[in-house]
Amino acid sequence: MRVPFVDAVASNMEDLEEMVELFRSIVISGQFVGGAEVESFEKEFAGFCGTSESVAVSTGTDALRFALMAAGIGNNDLVLTAPNTFIATTEAITQAGAAFDFVDIDEKTYTIDPEALSEYFKRSSRPVKAIIPVHLYGQMADMDPILTLAAENGAIVIEDACQAHGAEYYSIKRKRWFRAGSMGLAAAFSFYPGKNLGACGEGGAVTTDDPDLAARIRMLRDHGQSAKYRHEVEGYNGRLDAIQCGILRLKLRHLEKWNERRRSAASVYGTMLEGIEGISLPHVPERVKSVFHLYVIRAEMRDELQNWLAARGVGTGLHYPVPLHMQKCYAGRKWSPEDYPVAAEAAGSILSLPMYPQLSTIQQRYVADQILAFRSEIGVRARFG
Ligand SMILES: Cc1ncc(COP(=O)(O)O)c(C=O)c1O
Repeated sequence: MRVPFVDAVASNMEDLEEMVELFRSIVISGQFVGGAEVESFEKEFAGFCGTSESVAVSTGTDALRFALMAAGIGNNDLVLTAPNTFIATTEAITQAGAAFDFVDIDEKTYTIDPEALSEYFKRSSRPVKAIIPVHLYGQMADMDPILTLAAENGAIVIEDACQAHGAEYYSIKRKRWFRAGSMGLAAAFSFYPGKNLGACGEGGAVTTDDPDLAARIRMLRDHGQSAKYRHEVEGYNGRLDAIQCGILRLKLRHLEKWNERRRSAASVYGTMLEGIEGISLPHVPERVKSVFHLYVIRAEMRDELQNWLAARGVGTGLHYPVPLHMQKCYAGRKWSPEDYPVAAEAAGSILSLPMYPQLSTIQQRYVADQILAFRSEIGVRARFG
């Protein structure tokens, strides 16, 4: 049996005929950039996230960069984020003209540790202008204390929700559930094909409840124009085209169902993998509803297990094998692994197993059986050398 790590095609098959029809109608209409598909997608995606506005842009990286710029972050302003994110998070900060520093993560949820954040504010005198909590693997960061610390220290919060379309968090402070993208001043989403809501190409969006911020992002994505050839600021070509917006509208109709299927697959893995020696399962706090963009276990002898699975047709991933503070491109900062020990330690043992709405229980049984076989092989080797 083969169990691929991702299946970016299966979810397109549900809408194949409608996608072809959409393509035909856009090709005939000539409305490739902007127009009704873009506006409708923006309304529908904002509705899904529980915000009043969403602005479709070309990528999740642009979404982060535009959100920061529109919020006035730049000029070497300090922005805090987690070291175990995809590099797009820090690229966007740098490209907005700001500076970044890291705060270590919670060892169970892999999202920013509010205690570490609080410590950061106590020991650093440099003002922090923004915090970007990353809702990693489909699970929202602990937003209540993050928002409180941000408010106390005069920082804005921009959520990196690129892996968390539809994830939820129960705010004890505000006594209700919130969707990812609706708690910070703004949030960035990616529609890269493998995401829970993926385009047939690149895509991204910013969500916000602030109409002025949304208007500035609309300008930034469109060469800084307020009207045709009237450039208020120097902007970018960061629009999302009509075909991608149309495809995303079709797929958005299935997102709740797909997220639910990911949750069921996660609970099936939980039952199958529970109690296996050398394996720890993902932890989802009670006040969080994960959408399991990734199903990430911790494994002793991780690299050997990954090779074992690959040899038996099971695709896996590492998200991410090298934390950002240990990347060559940031060597100038002279960080050592111990600066963010939780992130550094996690990077050595995390393993992402196949996870998508169409993953079958039979495929999951096969994955679990191969993990069990690996563990018994290790046991045999330990006993007999
Ligand atoms: C956490 C995180 N932030 C930002 C991004 C950037 O999104 P994009 O690839 O659409 O630019 C991604 C996408 O992989 C991501 O996973």
